[in-house]
Amino acid sequence: MNEPEIELGPLDAYMDLPAEVTIEDTPYWLVRTSEGRFRLLLALCPHAGGDIRPMNDVLFCPLHFWTFHAESGVCLNDPSERLMQRNVTVKEGRLYAVGDPY
Ligand code: FES
Repeated sequence: MNEPEIELGPLDAYMDLPAEVTIEDTPYWLVRTSEGRFRLLLALCPHAGGDIRPMNDVLFCPLHFWTFHAESGVCLNDPSERLMQRNVTVKEGRLYAVGDPY
């Protein structure tokens, strides 16, 4: 069965990362891994729902100051926590979110 895809737009629109992306009213940060793959990280904190934002080279929650790895979304304060993520694929120069958040 094919996973649902949501088009995010042309690759050129995402030269500056992390980039804010909203899918079905849910905010994400689009990031790129060191292997060159794109990934969407949920911009809501798993602790108590704070708004995640980039700060220096990490993602940061201003509510209680948890920080997250900017590629994997793993919490640097408590590695058993992480930002939910969605897979992203590139086809013919356009980005697509694939499948559900996990
Ligand atoms: S809500 Fe993000 S650290 Fe508490």
